[in-house]
Amino acid sequence: MAKPAPQEQPIDEEDIDVEFETDEDELDQEGLADEDNYASLLESTDEPEEPELSAIENDADLSLEARPVPRITIHAYCSSPETGVVLQRAASDRRLTKAHVTVHMGGLAAAIGQYKHATTPNLVIVEDHSHHEELFANLLKFAEVCDPATKVMVIGKTNDVGLYRELIKQGVSEYLVSPLTPLQIIASISSIYVDPAAPPIGRSIAFVGAKGGVGSSTIAHHVGWCMSEGLEEDVTLIDLDIPFGTAGLDFNQDATQGIADALTSPERLDDVLLDRLLVKCTDHLSLFASPSVLDRDLDLDTETYESVLEIVRNMVPTVVLDVPHIWTPWTKHVLFTSDEVILTATPDLASLRNVKNIVDLVRAARPNDSPPRLVLNQVGVPKRPEIPEKDFAEATGIEPSLIIPFDAQLFGTAANNGQMVTEVAGNNKIKEGLKKLSFDVSGREPPETKNKGLLSMLGIG
Ligand SMILES: Nc1ncnc2c1ncn2[C@@H]1O[C@H](COP(=O)(O)OP(=O)(O)OP(=O)(O)O)[C@@H](O)[C@H]1O
Ligand SMILES: [Mg+2]
Repeated sequence: MAKPAPQEQPIDEEDIDVEFETDEDELDQEGLADEDNYASLLESTDEPEEPELSAIENDADLSLEARPVPRITIHAYCSSPETGVVLQRAASDRRLTKAHVTVHMGGLAAAIGQYKHATTPNLVIVEDHSHHEELFANLLKFAEVCDPATKVMVIGKTNDVGLYRELIKQGVSEYLVSPLTPLQIIASISSIYVDPAAPPIGRSIAFVGAKGGVGSSTIAHHVGWCMSEGLEEDVTLIDLDIPFGTAGLDFNQDATQGIADALTSPERLDDVLLDRLLVKCTDHLSLFASPSVLDRDLDLDTETYESVLEIVRNMVPTVVLDVPHIWTPWTKHVLFTSDEVILTATPDLASLRNVKNIVDLVRAARPNDSPPRLVLNQVGVPKRPEIPEKDFAEATGIEPSLIIPFDAQLFGTAANNGQMVTEVAGNNKIKEGLKKLSFDVSGREPPETKNKGLLSMLGIG
């Protein structure tokens, strides 16, 4: 088979975030602290050395396995500059242009230091050349700062099947032996994320109001925004309120194309079309906006919604669904099949009745999943008699996850300016509450409350 063609396609600078950070001390130890030396090492990436014949054959096989990787965030911590260069080459490969890749030096020690106060991304690649016991001891320390949802790939020096099996058994997704080629790394990442038999990688979080106008969309948009900012991982927000959706307004985006185009031709929806239809709000947040026009009749069946959402879930780690307050087969299906359901209600009788009915139905339809989370919104409107939160808890068996006071100034300013409340001056408790909710629904822990994480994966937690 022919040698894989060299990388020719232009890389979308916006999509790929390759940093190559160096640790002077470490380089010093290896006699590489001299900047010129290091620069020349990096420069050598432009003209790769001719690989040996066996490497070409291996890479030809691997090119079949290496498939485009979805929009995940990957942090790599190398202990040798050679692996750093190979990872950098892998990061600029066309198959990784959707992923956000950062390459650092410093190996496992640097990774442990980094994640003491930060959230771990979707995938962490760590290089450690220690032998068996020391490697496990180092991984144990890493486990203390690693989120359970994060996958870990280890690069070591020891070519030992026993070690490989032991690491896989204890929760590591892949163990590779250096020296490596870029394609080996890409193929391994693909094997973790692009397995056709694996369930979709995207976690879907559906937001719906107990009645109209309760603030469900506002909360969905803020939680999506907080997740993309706080976790620094890709979130796609889908505005399913085709005629009246407000996501475009809330993010100050003028979207002419979006979810309606995908729904009318789901068979055409692939990575390329998805890129065209998505509006990029920030580095990590993209929007599948509703057209918000009234002259377009979209009377689609449940299967159409299902197939479009499935495709998006296969491409992004987190999908936030802004579900309108209507009751149709497809809205029910979206609620029943999402990983999380967030029900927003105001403290009045109609909301209480609807919350109870929706919770009962959703619970019955998905008995093995977590029950919907309840957000009580617009609480404390002056002079308005309100139903207390304990009545909601008694009627539904669910304690509200978040209670948001009525704050016309804060929410009104944000809505009219097309901003998030976190960007507008005002009640910090509300902002903190929304941030906390975003971590809760993402299944991740905020850095300050990190606990054992991967320890449990290693069977020690
Ligand atoms: N806690 C709050 N205090 C004051 N105003 C709020 C609060 N939460 C939301 N709002 C405002 O309430 C209005 C309705 O919000 P939103 O559109 O998010 O509700 P919804 O439940 O999605 O409505 P719809 O049924 O139309 O989809 C918006 O103007 C929003 O700014
Ligand atoms: Mg809405």
